[in-house]
Amino acid sequence: MHVAVNAAMSADGKLSTREREQVAISGPDDFDRVDAMRADSDAVMVGVGTVLADDPSLTVDDGARRERREAAGKPANPARVIADSRMRTPTDARVLDDAATTYLLTSEGAPPDFVDEIEDTGTDVITAGETRVDLDAALSELDDRGIERLMVEGGGELIFSLFEAGLVDELSVFVGSRIIGGRNAPTLADGDGFVDEFPALELTGVDRLDDGVVLSWDVS
Ligand SMILES: NC(=O)c1ccc[n+]([C@@H]2O[C@H](COP(=O)([O-])OP(=O)(O)OC[C@H]3O[C@@H](n4cnc5c(N)ncnc54)[C@H](OP(=O)(O)O)[C@@H]3O)[C@@H](O)[C@H]2O)c1
Repeated sequence: MHVAVNAAMSADGKLSTREREQVAISGPDDFDRVDAMRADSDAVMVGVGTVLADDPSLTVDDGARRERREAAGKPANPARVIADSRMRTPTDARVLDDAATTYLLTSEGAPPDFVDEIEDTGTDVITAGETRVDLDAALSELDDRGIERLMVEGGGELIFSLFEAGLVDELSVFVGSRIIGGRNAPTLADGDGFVDEFPALELTGVDRLDDGVVLSWDVS
């Protein structure tokens, strides 16, 4: 499986405010770039923190891109994947609507009643890990279900864990022209942080877009 992480951050590396409220960091050209990336993916993944903060739909916005996917024998929208060890995703979250297939990755610690409730929405629940989602095992289950290209849209906790597990192949970041600040505001990679064996990146692109820049790296 190929895993591509994409996010938008402020010039000071923040994904949103300390109140974890979504901020418009990029502009229309970057939205279009992200939409094209989604359309080229088999699935789009976020952590439950992003579901709770932003309630994203993670679908492809552009009708022509959806039509091209269907013409190629694919579903109009890529599948959605949520990492949610304790089943905190609300049953009325937009990622659980019928616009696309949704896989919810959870742990053995998830309350069984909540698992039943989420399965009733038509969501495919994948259990991997004792108390927290074991991303390595969960992604290989997704691979078995035909997910070859996985796009990850955040947030910082999930992105850090994916780097920690050595699962990221590619990173692209829109860096916007504003400062958000806040020591507790989410950054591109949160988690516990690395103190050694820092993942090494190879810069593959620097592109000016909207009022910012898109930086692209391969993970060595
Ligand atoms: N600017 C952007 O591009 C962008 C993109 C996305 C999000 N955001 C912002 O980022 C914020 C949310 O980010 P976040 O870091 O709080 O949340 P997140 O990364 O979306 O989700 C983190 C949660 O995922 C669950 N999870 C399950 N398995 C995990 C694992 N193996 N490793 C890590 N997490 C795992 C954990 O909750 P459980 O323990 O309960 O499972 C964890 O708290 C929001 O403010 C949102 O607006 C910005």
